[in-house]
Amino acid sequence: MSDQRRPTKAVIPAAGLGTRFLPATKAIPKELLPVVDIPAMEYIVAEAAGVGLTDVLVITARGKEAIADHFDRAPELEAALEKKGDADRLAALRRSAELADVHFVRQGAPRGLGHAILCADAFVGDEVFAVLLGDDLVDERDPLLQPMLDVQAEHGGCVVALMEVPRHSVSLYGCVAAEPTGTDGVVRVTDLVEKPAPEDAPSNLAIIGRYVLAPSIFDTLRQTEPGRGGEIQITDALRRQAMAGEPMHGVVFRGRRYDTGDKADYLKAVVRLACERPDLGPEFRQWLEDFVAGRA
Ligand code: G1P
Repeated sequence: MSDQRRPTKAVIPAAGLGTRFLPATKAIPKELLPVVDIPAMEYIVAEAAGVGLTDVLVITARGKEAIADHFDRAPELEAALEKKGDADRLAALRRSAELADVHFVRQGAPRGLGHAILCADAFVGDEVFAVLLGDDLVDERDPLLQPMLDVQAEHGGCVVALMEVPRHSVSLYGCVAAEPTGTDGVVRVTDLVEKPAPEDAPSNLAIIGRYVLAPSIFDTLRQTEPGRGGEIQITDALRRQAMAGEPMHGVVFRGRRYDTGDKADYLKAVVRLACERPDLGPEFRQWLEDFVAGRA
């Protein structure tokens, strides 16, 4: 594939209400909750930019204006840090505005993830693009989006990220029926169902928050009726495409991933990333060992 046709666009739905983290998210968008000292969404934008997806559209909603502020320049803060000669903080401050071109559109009404993605139609046009869900934080050392883009380039159609989960958890996710392709970690998806009861689930392969989508998904989304929860579901649109014979693959992720929308997982992400930070890790690890041993 020539450089020109390599996907460059990413869509990040961020219109959700964030009820799981109330009251913290009463006035602050959940996407800006810090994971150590970086807002969750900056990790997501960095992940997209890291694989060349530097044209990013965030789907927002009323009350989420602070997200746009975070990805904008902050001249007053920059001037203050420049004056102090604080180069490290200045670099950290500028990073979010320099990672990618970040654009915004509002969803207007909470009509589901499929509807949120449909809001990206005009931005995406006739190109393959990625969708990254903000609650799923993928460890940067464990590649996922790049293998997905590679599978899409090879087979066409759409590609979903999958993860094996315990059967009793499938009802939290979209779930797929799949068959092997001969390539380890890549499956052909034959059916998809949104949040099935464990006894109805076709497998324990759950969809996690990364998608590489063909632009034909927009027409399909327009034809997709509201499904589970009365919302337009991306899973249902993908099912329609699979049933119509469009190529549909899954990349099975076996790396580190945190659901920062879940309180316990959020805490684990903060602790793990803090332990691994060169500036904080050594002291924090020692404290953690003492704490767990009842010495702190
Ligand atoms: C959404 C999708 C679901 C997917 C999940 C991944 O659900 O509808 O198919 O498995 O994201 O995180 P949500 O988590 O928004 O309820």
